[in-house]
Amino acid sequence: MITGGAGFIGSHVVRRFVTNYPDYQIINIDKLTYAGNLENLIDVEHKDNYVFEKADILDKKSVTDLFSKYTITDVIHLAAESHVDRSIEGPMEFVLTNVVGTVTLLEAAKDAWTDKNEHVFYHVSTDEVFGSLESEGFFTENTPYDPRSPYSASKASSDHFVRAYFHTFQLPVKMSNCSNNYGSHHFPEKLIPLMINNILNDKPLPIYGNGLNIRDWLWVEDHASAIDAVFHKGKIGESYNIGGLNEWTNIDLVMFLCQLMDQKLGRPEGSAAKLITYIKDRAGHDQRYAIDASKIREELGWTPSINFEDGLSKTIDWYLANKEWIDKVTSGSYQNYYDQQYNNR
Ligand code: NAD
Ligand code: TYD
Repeated sequence: MITGGAGFIGSHVVRRFVTNYPDYQIINIDKLTYAGNLENLIDVEHKDNYVFEKADILDKKSVTDLFSKYTITDVIHLAAESHVDRSIEGPMEFVLTNVVGTVTLLEAAKDAWTDKNEHVFYHVSTDEVFGSLESEGFFTENTPYDPRSPYSASKASSDHFVRAYFHTFQLPVKMSNCSNNYGSHHFPEKLIPLMINNILNDKPLPIYGNGLNIRDWLWVEDHASAIDAVFHKGKIGESYNIGGLNEWTNIDLVMFLCQLMDQKLGRPEGSAAKLITYIKDRAGHDQRYAIDASKIREELGWTPSINFEDGLSKTIDWYLANKEWIDKVTSGSYQNYYDQQYNNR
């Protein structure tokens, strides 16, 4: 069972597992919120070893029924509300999906799995649970939790429940905490796809605060390969930090993106950068995230496969070739929501 498989990272994980492991039967469980789109999976939806089930992880009966319908052996749990700005607007949805939804899945696994040695419950989490760094240092697996947004507080809480089920009920869990991802099929409310979409539509490029906040960006397919490594080779009860040693200030990243977009669109140099607009900072904006990924590198032999320049270029190419995808996922209420949020700042 892969939860949240119609979302950004989940769709890459589903694609990887369905393609690379034809002997596995992959059951994708997703509620299809605004962030979940089956268009993300059209290339694998007809495969024999893939099934989609529309279900809400908060619905205990549906989850329990699916465990028994498919005799679920392992879970890779990615379903979540994932956008920090939305968590500031409305934290309760994050508590429900990320905390209560995770505990609902843990309960279903605990009840269904009698021989706990034969299973894995893998919880996919974020580096944001560790809080915010100054200019020095990195998050390790031993960094104390210090979540500061409603999103990271909900993910930290779900991480704690996963560990609690390991210690209290011997549920065979694994966890990972990853830095910011980028790549294809990324919903255009997050920094990189939002900027690409706005450049295409000649809209302002909103930079929060002074633009000097730092994120550590990882190619989404490298996150999927890390999840594969942890799922197959990681130790039960342990967590692994995942990141690509690739820190950028927001403004440097957006300037670089603008330069690449001008080149790819054949526009005069500096055209896209003219759209950059500094706006009111995000409340409680974390200054810097940076991951020390030595544990997963040394113990599981995982390393990222692509540098940022190539990854970003490929990402832009994907969006330019898939404008219909952008139109589809942003149709409906999203565009009004975005314009309203932007105007409020
Ligand atoms: P996303 O928002 O793109 O996708 C989330 C998916 O979960 C969507 O398909 C949505 O429909 C589904 N979902 C939401 N609520 C649900 C519910 N109640 N029941 C069933 N399905 C539901 O998120 P993403 O960026 O792909 O992130 C996936 C996971 O990875 C999350 O757990 C997130 O915390 C974690 N993560 C994300 C990043 C990142 O940079 N995006 C980094 C590290 C960790
Ligand atoms: P985001 O993609 O929302 O990821 P996260 O907040 O989980 O790290 O934002 C990445 C960074 O970009 C973060 O520092 C906030 C900033 N940002 C902007 O400056 N403008 C924007 O329009 C967005 C969405 C984000």
